[in-house]
Amino acid sequence: MGKTRAAITGVQGWVPETKLTNHDLEKMVDTNDEWIQSRTGIKERRILRTPGWATSDMCAEAVKGLLEKTGVKPGEIDLIIVATVTADMVFPDTANTVCDKVGAKNAFGFDVNAACSGFLFALATGAQYVQNEVYNKVIVVGSDMMSSIIDYTDRNTCVIFGDGAAAVLLEPRKDGNGIVDFVLRGDGSGREMLHMKAGGSLKPASLETVAAREHYAWQDGKRVYVHAVKGMSGTCEEVLRRNKLTSDDVQWLVPHQANMRIIQSVAEHMHFPMERVMVNIERYGNTTAATIPLCLWEYEKQLKKGDNIILTAFGGGFTWGALYLKWAY
Ligand code: UT7
Repeated sequence: MGKTRAAITGVQGWVPETKLTNHDLEKMVDTNDEWIQSRTGIKERRILRTPGWATSDMCAEAVKGLLEKTGVKPGEIDLIIVATVTADMVFPDTANTVCDKVGAKNAFGFDVNAACSGFLFALATGAQYVQNEVYNKVIVVGSDMMSSIIDYTDRNTCVIFGDGAAAVLLEPRKDGNGIVDFVLRGDGSGREMLHMKAGGSLKPASLETVAAREHYAWQDGKRVYVHAVKGMSGTCEEVLRRNKLTSDDVQWLVPHQANMRIIQSVAEHMHFPMERVMVNIERYGNTTAATIPLCLWEYEKQLKKGDNIILTAFGGGFTWGALYLKWAY
């Protein structure tokens, strides 16, 4: 028998129905469809408008769909990890709310905050419990309600982000498939370039912070862009090298969907053909922690057992990395 690996054995996404198109944004800020499409690749994004709903509700929809699809009962789940920067509340964590909403009575949960790299970090974390044979059924969800922290008067950010959720089930496999390796990195000095200025312990919410519009995502886009290309390409190359793979051995590259030009640059650096790069940015924009699992969900039917897949992301922190897995079904 081979060594135990944590394998993705199911994936399910959920996005809100409401679409915010580039033409809608033209009426809100000084922008235009041509600029947004040519600079980012985005045509529309989804926005959560259901009254009383938040990130945990999108997670719960994705998890319920995943359980139905895989035939797993809520009581069988051991652990739910939610990657998000838009938790329902500052505390408690969103994952335990999700456990409650899906009826996972025997599970515990916790959140991972690594911004756009959140799903990658959470997946690597969840995999440890499974490959070390601590738990058999771990769910990892990537979800963000970015519309709750976006300033819709700021054209630098409001054209980029959208809302969504997607969840994967991790189970042990001994046939060689599953998560093989990952390289995760961080550089806290990057916090200056991508953050929310107020609402944390450094600058608690006050009338002044609200008036100064400091409760929104802020980024120095140009500088983040350069670091994103370098970070994603570098960790992808590292993970390929140490697993003695070339781009030809990899069936799919699944990059975080921040900007079409970043995706193309990373593919170019890796000499990887765009036909084998998962892309859905045109319909969802940047959903932060949800982009990678949403891609896996949409491309699921094209995946074959044993496919070599590289996931890669870059985000606030800075955080970044690449993960190599062999598709299990
Ligand atoms: O996922 C987390 C990590 N985040 C990222 O990876 C994001 C990385 N950065 C980016 O994707 C890009 O930098 C942006 C899409 C945010 C911006 O694209 P850019 O090509 O870097 O544009 P820029 O910020 O250099 O702006 C170019 C011009 C500026 O005008 P001037 O100064 O040249 O006259 C901007 O004011 O485009 C202007 N501009 C816009 N024009 C129309 C900026 N935003 C807009 C807009 N519509 N929405």
